[in-house]
Amino acid sequence: MALREILKYPNPLLRKKAEKVTAFDDALQKLIADMAETMYDAPGVGLAAPQIGASLQLLVMDITSREEEPELIVLINPEISEGEGSEIDEEGCLSVVDLTAKVKRFSKIRVKAQDAEGNHLDFIAEEWFARVIQHEVDHLNGTLFIDHLSSLKRALYKKKRKKQLAEVSEL
Ligand code: NI
Repeated sequence: MALREILKYPNPLLRKKAEKVTAFDDALQKLIADMAETMYDAPGVGLAAPQIGASLQLLVMDITSREEEPELIVLINPEISEGEGSEIDEEGCLSVVDLTAKVKRFSKIRVKAQDAEGNHLDFIAEEWFARVIQHEVDHLNGTLFIDHLSSLKRALYKKKRKKQLAEVSEL
């Protein structure tokens, strides 16, 4: 296992639509292990493959609290086939530094996906679990949570980030 670098906005790789996973081989298992290690190290509740520069429809997540035993969830080629209700809650992202904001999401979704071995999954997710899946599935489509904010908020963040990066390059 190895820690991987998490790409940060505005890296263009975060905007690429991810390819379907077709081979459930050793290379995939290694990528999953690296992603899990990177996510737990960050720490974060979810990580999508494009965030480490792998353009594949693959995400890992763990929504257990710190007091609970970790429970890694791996979703491959996930699809949100149904969604209902809506909920607004605070989100952040390992690829969008120094920003959290309220985002509206479905409160209940139906998910079709595959697990690490390629078995087909079909399940209902609600509330926080549903929110994390929607956030991570967005990554697979090149979408970031800031795309759900008002254009003003997004512009402010863009400006702040540009300034931050300019300061870093001046060092
Ligand atoms: Ni994210």
